[in-house]
Parts: sequence; C-alpha cells; structure tokens
Amino acid sequence: MNVIAIDGPAGSGKSTIARALAARLGVEYLDTGAMYRAVALAAMERGIAGTDTAAVGSLARELALDVGEHGVLVDGIDVTAEIRSPEVTAAVSAIAANSEVRAELRARQREWAVQRGGGVIEGRDIGSVVFPAAILKLYLTATPRIRAQRRVAESGGDVETIERAIAVRDAKDSTRTDGPLREADGSIVVDTSGLAIDEVLTTIEALLNGAK
Ligand code: DC
Repeated sequence: MNVIAIDGPAGSGKSTIARALAARLGVEYLDTGAMYRAVALAAMERGIAGTDTAAVGSLARELALDVGEHGVLVDGIDVTAEIRSPEVTAAVSAIAANSEVRAELRARQREWAVQRGGGVIEGRDIGSVVFPAAILKLYLTATPRIRAQRRVAESGGDVETIERAIAVRDAKDSTRTDGPLREADGSIVVDTSGLAIDEVLTTIEALLNGAK
C-alpha cells in the first residue's frame, strides 16, 4: 500500500496540502478529522453527551460514514458544512479522546486505504499509529500566529481569539493518552510558515522522489 501520511496541528496546512498533493499524484485523499467531526455532530444531534464514552463509541460503530471528495455524508445526509461549525469544533476534542471512537475510525481508515491501494491521508495519528509503515510521513507545522491567520482568512473571526482557541485544542490533542498529536518516528517536519502552497508541494515531491 502506498500511503502518504500527513499529520500536524490545526492550521498547519494539512488539508490544503493533502488535497493538492493527491490531485498531483492522481490518487485519493482522506480527511480523517472530518470523520471525528462527523461523529461529534451525530452525537450532538442525537443528544448524546460527549462524556458518555460508551454511547458515543456505539454511535461511531453504527454510523454510515462517507468521507470523500464529494463531501461528508452521515447516514446518507450531507453534513459537509455542519461539521465545520464552531459548536462541532468545540465538541470534537472530547470525541477524539474516546478510545472506542478511535479504534472504530482507525479501522475504517485502514479499510479505506486497502480498498484503494493507498492514498494521501491526513490527521493527527496517521503516521504514528494508523499507518506506521507509510511510504512518506510528514509532520506539517507553522507558527501559532500564522495558523490563526489562515483560519481567519478561511472563516473569519479575530486572530487573537482564534489563536487562543487553537492553543486550547492543540493542548487537548497533544495530551490525550490515545493517539496524541506528535511527530511520528521517521516523519519529516515541514514548517509551512513562510511557504506558499506550491513551495510546500515541491518540497514534498522531492522527498517522495527520494523515498522511492
Ligand atoms: O483536522 P480537524 O481540525 O478537522 O480535526 C478535528 C479534530 O479531530 C481535532 O480536534 C483533532 C481530531 N483528530 C484526531 O484526533 N485524529 C485524527 N486522525 C484526525 C483528527
């Protein structure tokens, strides 16, 4: 399987880079954060508390989840926009810390890759836990201020407030016991702070050619 794993914190450029890299390579791309967000949204809509780990775990196992280029469907309903709401963003860290949810979503991510013979997969634990044997493991990063500015450019808001919110989410994602956000063994760190998208892609393609 030819998996390219891209991990890193919010606003590091993962989604943009993963999507563009997949297009250049002619392979598919999987946004695993969208899967955690979809479970968080489904729990909210069903009135299941994020703290009810067993109920959220069962929900994750039962949901029909379809995450792809066309968007995100949960039980056949398009929730592509809803999963990006501030409410879901605030609720998702607790869902992502649930080991039952992580076990289920990791199994689905591996299945996705097996069906396609690989692809570009982005998240927090892709190189460290889900695909430790990926052909290339990247850890994207950028300064907190630049990450916040990118979020503001995408969805508006105040840079300082967003920078604080990102710091809170990073802390939760990095300190959970199951699959914390960290640089995977063998991963290559790419600081995207001063780089344009094309420059990051050129850097990655050079790494990929070296990895072959
Ligand atoms: O990349 P994102 O912001 O859409 O991710 C949403 C949340 O899901 C974020 O809090 C981190 C978590 N996540 C995770 O724990 N593991 C992944 N592989 C992907 C995302």
